[in-house]
Amino acid sequence: MSFLIGDGMTGGYGSADILHDCTIAVEKGEIAVIVGPNGAGKSTAMKAVFGMLPLRLGHVRLEGEDITALTPQARVAKGMAFVPQTQNVFTSLTVQENLEMGAYLRRDDIRGTMEQVFDLFPILGEKRRQPAGELSGGQRQQVAVGRALMTQPSVLMLDEPTAGVSPIVMDELFDRIIEVARTGIAILMVEQNARQALNIADRGYVLVQGENRYTDTGEALLANPDVRRSFLGG
Ligand SMILES: Nc1ncnc2c1ncn2[C@@H]1O[C@H](COP(=O)(O)OP(=O)(O)O)[C@@H](O)[C@H]1O
Ligand SMILES: [Mg+2]
Repeated sequence: MSFLIGDGMTGGYGSADILHDCTIAVEKGEIAVIVGPNGAGKSTAMKAVFGMLPLRLGHVRLEGEDITALTPQARVAKGMAFVPQTQNVFTSLTVQENLEMGAYLRRDDIRGTMEQVFDLFPILGEKRRQPAGELSGGQRQQVAVGRALMTQPSVLMLDEPTAGVSPIVMDELFDRIIEVARTGIAILMVEQNARQALNIADRGYVLVQGENRYTDTGEALLANPDVRRSFLGG
């Protein structure tokens, strides 16, 4: 039994299904990565796991509990956090205000968690009074991840956290994500930088046209000649 699993997910945005019997799972303290071509349904699978897409078939279970019918907000209350692919920060709000927004469901003292986020991403501490819109792309992604961490989640879901950032910034962000996973949080992540992401993945999923094409450890997928040829550029 996985910590979090979207099991046999089938569904889409209207009458046409985008996901076809798609299964994605992640364990505590591990990093699961979804890769695949544009339009494969990676973001759709993330939305389905987070409750933003009604499933026609299949179930989402967290620690064995069926949460398929829960709203995204109810899933947040259960420990899930999601950083969507786009528009994941409030650009007119300061860094600190963004982090405070992330904690809106909490009634306890959030200062300790905010300090943890500043320890993880020191630049955010330095720029806490600046509007997030003034930050670089990589720093904005840090704000988005930091905001998600403010709920003290047990599962962190990231849709293309390194989109549009330089290779050095990508490596740094991956190092921080590994650090977060080591605290026991389950990380479920979609990545365009497939090779680098599979490098840090305990488990990898190759999605094609809404279906699971390959599922294995990151290491095994990187070594698989078919995966390399078709999805990793040789
Ligand atoms: N809001 C939406 N309404 C209708 N179709 C959508 C919507 N979002 C995505 N799609 C379609 O679903 C398919 C999968 O998209 P998506 O999950 O965004 O792929 P990926 O993240 O792998 O690039 C694509 O054909 C896309 O056009
Ligand atoms: Mg996407």
